[in-house]
Amino acid sequence: MHGLDGAPEWPTLQAMLPGLAGKRVLDLGCGFGWFCRWAAGQGAAEVLGVDVSENMLARARAETTRATVHYKRADLERFAPPQPAFDLAYSSLAFHYLTDLAGLLARVSAGLLPGGQLVCSVEHPLMTSPRHQGWTQDESGVPTWPVNGYLDEGPRVTDWLAKGVVKQHRSIATYLELLRRAGLVLTDLREWGPSVEQVAANPEWSNERQRPAFLLLAARKS
Ligand SMILES: C[S@@+](CC[C@H](N)C(=O)[O-])C[C@H]1O[C@@H](n2cnc3c(N)ncnc32)[C@H](O)[C@@H]1O
Repeated sequence: MHGLDGAPEWPTLQAMLPGLAGKRVLDLGCGFGWFCRWAAGQGAAEVLGVDVSENMLARARAETTRATVHYKRADLERFAPPQPAFDLAYSSLAFHYLTDLAGLLARVSAGLLPGGQLVCSVEHPLMTSPRHQGWTQDESGVPTWPVNGYLDEGPRVTDWLAKGVVKQHRSIATYLELLRRAGLVLTDLREWGPSVEQVAANPEWSNERQRPAFLLLAARKS
């Protein structure tokens, strides 16, 4: 486990964040609390990490020393941020597990101060769309990521890392519409894949140039 530095998209996501000094920060699907501790280190006044997994939270608590960081076990399908409100809601690679993302975004938006921001990453819709996920090969033997089912939004079952994991496929247009309906105005959108320089340094990532792995979004409460 390499924390934030082990996530190749982190430098890009980090560049989309506002300054955190004195800010109240919410981390939705915080996992081991890597971002919570980083935010506290940036001077955030208060950080609340939320996750449904007690195992994840136990390790997050064990590795957290700052009194400004708190963790709460909750299911994001129902979670509503406590008052007082937050300056930043952050989420890394959790939203694509939720069936009612519209409901969560509405509750999170209500918990943001005016001008508050949401910065999040999800698996890119080109990653979540195929009914049978995994590389194939074209006639020349070039690894190819299948594109199918893109407009058929809904659950996809994958066996990567763990068996039978259910993710929710949404198109890019749907993500943008869900933000809009929650009163969040898009301010940044990036499709992350490794740069040519990163592939040169990590040749095993060369296939990752064929489609973006992550969709990164930033929005501001209107
Ligand atoms: C891929 S991990 C990402 C963890 C962390 N944000 C990171 O980037 O390292 C997804 C996280 O979302 C959490 N999660 C998934 N579904 C959830 C739900 N319904 N409610 C709360 N947390 C959930 C998982 O427990 C897990 O910690």
